[in-house]
This record gives sequence, structure tokens and C-alpha cells, in this order.
Amino acid sequence: MKRKPLVVANWKMHGQSKWIENYIHDLTKPQGQSGQCEIVLCPPFVYLNEVRSLLQETGMGLGAQDLHDSEHGAFTGEISPHMLLDVGCKYVVVGHSERRRLLGETDDFVAAKFAAACRNALIPILCVGENEGEREAGVTESVVRRQLDAVLQVCGNEAFAAAVIAYEPVWAIGTGVTATPAQAQDVHGFIRNYIASHSSASAMRILYGGSVKADNAVMLAQQQDVDGALVGGASLIVKDFLAICAGFSK
Ligand code: 13P
Repeated sequence: MKRKPLVVANWKMHGQSKWIENYIHDLTKPQGQSGQCEIVLCPPFVYLNEVRSLLQETGMGLGAQDLHDSEHGAFTGEISPHMLLDVGCKYVVVGHSERRRLLGETDDFVAAKFAAACRNALIPILCVGENEGEREAGVTESVVRRQLDAVLQVCGNEAFAAAVIAYEPVWAIGTGVTATPAQAQDVHGFIRNYIASHSSASAMRILYGGSVKADNAVMLAQQQDVDGALVGGASLIVKDFLAICAGFSK
């Protein structure tokens, strides 16, 4: 099945108003747009509204980097799925390894967030992936299976029908060391087969993330089960991000 490539910019904790204005101006110049690839920006929460206005009529989408699993309540500092919808988000990143590792998010909490996104018509981008020690120990598949199982148990088999998965090996994030196209394809193929054993997975997009750059995007894009990218550092430079989008548009 042909899946439309999706390239997502995860700005993480970067960007301020003036920078954002310049960035989106450069990104949306006519020659920069490509209808063959869906492009989504995930700015920090406080800039979602601003990015939404600047993206109007560009065909590019808006996503958030995280959400809380409750619709409302006494959760100081948290952001609900309703709020994300209200400011025009279509996507939300769930279970990024930085949140799992630095902020202690468990598989169960990630699954609850995934469920909250689905309940509220947001498309979750579920991040999974092993760390360096786990890859060296040869347990990559069991780590990824455990992360997927947590969501399957809470959300059921059909949960992935409308979702996106991002395979982000922790050892490749921000390190400049990308998974080889073959390593990425191996895990992406495993993910698709594993989900397919529970429900249909042929339409599900699986993104690769971890040191995606202009010069490795094309090779990654050629892999059968790599349907796009979740880009951190290189998404902060418009020229590089556009080159990655072009790499996935072929
Ligand atoms: P880098 O592209 O900077 O390695 O980050 C990847 C990532 O974590 C995207 O979510």
C-alpha cells in the first residue's frame, strides 16, 4: 500500500517569536512546498497559536510535543487534549524518549496519553525505541514490543489504525549517529508485522527519528517500511529541513 510520507519537525525546547516568524516565512516560500509529503511542525506549547496563524493556507500541519491524559483538572503546568484541539493541533507526540528518560514517563503513562489523544480526535505519534545498552544486548525487539504492548493493552487492537509510530533509537537521538537504513528497516518491518498480527497495519505510517539529516534522508526514505521522519536538530534549520522533506517526497 502507498502511504503518503510524513515529515515532522520536533523543535523540542527551541524557538522564539521572531525566529518562528522568519522560519515559517522561509519554509513556506513557494519553491519550498511539496505536495508529495505531509509536513507538520511541533513547536513548544506557548507558540502553538502563533505557528497555527502563520501556517494558515500553507497546507502544513500543527502538532504538539506532549499532552496530559486528563481532559481538565488540577494539574498545574499541564496541557490537555482539549486545549491542543482548540489551538488547531492535528497531531501530538507521545512517549518521546526524552520524556521517558528525563521525566520518568512510564509505559503505562504513555499508554494513557495515547488513549487521551485518540479519545479527543488527535493523532498520536507514539515514540518507541531502545537505548544503546539494549541494542548491544540484542533486545531491541523485545523493548519495542513492550512499549507497543502497553498501548495495545489499554487502547485495544484498533488503536493503531489512525495512529503514527516513530521508531527513535535513543542512541541515535542528537548524537549524529543515525541508524543505518537496514537497521531502521529491520525495526520498522518488525513494528508493522507486530501490529499487523493484532489489526491492520498496511496504512499505518512508521516514521524514523534520530539524527535524520539531508544526506541520509533519501536512503532512509527508500526503505519499504520507512514512511517519513521525526526530525529534531535538523528541523531547526529551514534549508536542512526542506532538504529532508524533499528526500521523502521522491
Ligand atoms: P535529532 O534529529 O536531533 O537526533 O532528534 C530526534 C528526535 O528526538 C526527534 O523527536
